[in-house]
Amino acid sequence: MKKSCVLVCGGAGYIGSHTTVELINAGYDVVIADNFSNSDMGAVEGVRKITGVDIPFVEVDCCDLEAFRKVFEQYEFDSVIHFAASKAVGESVEKPMLYYRNNLLSLMNMIDLMREFGRHNIVFSSSCTVYGEPDKQPVTEQTPRKPATSPYGNTKQMSEDILRDAVAATEGLKGIALRYFNPIGAHPSALIGELPRGVPQNLVPYITQTAAGIRECLSVFGDDYPTPDGSCIRDYIDVVDLAKAHVAAIGRMVENRNDENYEIFNVGTGRGVSVLELVNRFREVNGVELPCKIAPRREGDIIAIWADPTRANTVLGWKAGRTLDETLAAAWAWEKHVRGIE
Ligand code: UD1
Repeated sequence: MKKSCVLVCGGAGYIGSHTTVELINAGYDVVIADNFSNSDMGAVEGVRKITGVDIPFVEVDCCDLEAFRKVFEQYEFDSVIHFAASKAVGESVEKPMLYYRNNLLSLMNMIDLMREFGRHNIVFSSSCTVYGEPDKQPVTEQTPRKPATSPYGNTKQMSEDILRDAVAATEGLKGIALRYFNPIGAHPSALIGELPRGVPQNLVPYITQTAAGIRECLSVFGDDYPTPDGSCIRDYIDVVDLAKAHVAAIGRMVENRNDENYEIFNVGTGRGVSVLELVNRFREVNGVELPCKIAPRREGDIIAIWADPTRANTVLGWKAGRTLDETLAAAWAWEKHVRGIE
């Protein structure tokens, strides 16, 4: 039986493109919407190539209510996934209004249109950033949220609350917030992956660009933290695994298996990895040189955080499957593909 249709807003982006592939693999129809603010048509072409499906694409800004309404008029999807948000922490401190407008307005427009058109299920991209610096590891969904340390983090907390309240007040509306840990890696085909504009702010793109010779040297931000090797600890989740969590979340709502109309899941591996460990695994797995130096701590960084993914494992029926080595190999394969390195 043909499954229902999903609108993927931000489907040309890093996580959105990988999720589109997994939705198609699982038998869903997909419509991609994107405004190309931090992406381009290359990802859509990559997704079409991987899946062999000519996925419909609409260029639209979800903050433009009238333009966005046309997408709802034109397509018969029952579920949406909201990836269309800005995610650079530093930029959000400099341009808070841009972040509040983009991230909150796009979600509110989406919810309004879902109510207007009677569409039922929404998956929202949240982040482990909502936990701040946790008192206890690993974090569960019950771990209290701490005050956000950036406008970006604030938008994630506020968006979760907006979604929770809208679901509570709307008959037939269901929502799942996925709290991502640190998504890394690329599709094994090397046809899609992470392609940041300008100087990468995140660790793995900086590593792969350094290995490719585009950046001179990786700076490890701090080696004097209270952790075993002194560098920060994160839970690095493979982007294909993360994509599959979205498919599981959509399936749960489409098949009415959800316990509550609004639910939250941590999406991580359950394993904390330090920056230095990750750097060394990358070198070893890929057999490449990676110039690297210790630099001062980066302001606003959390010392350590990793997920307790038990709820996603048992309730959502999702589990991270790929190993860190596979993920780091895929990240490098993608960078080589982009740069034309043999
Ligand atoms: C950051 C955000 C998070 C957001 C995510 C989006 C913070 C505190 N968190 O996660 O809310 O959802 O980006 O992608 O900003 N590192 C280096 N050298 C580098 C880059 C990073 O040592 O050149 C270190 C960082 O200090 C950190 C780790 O690598 O310990 C991971 O950093 P990054 O990839 O930027 O992710 P987060 O900061 O964890």
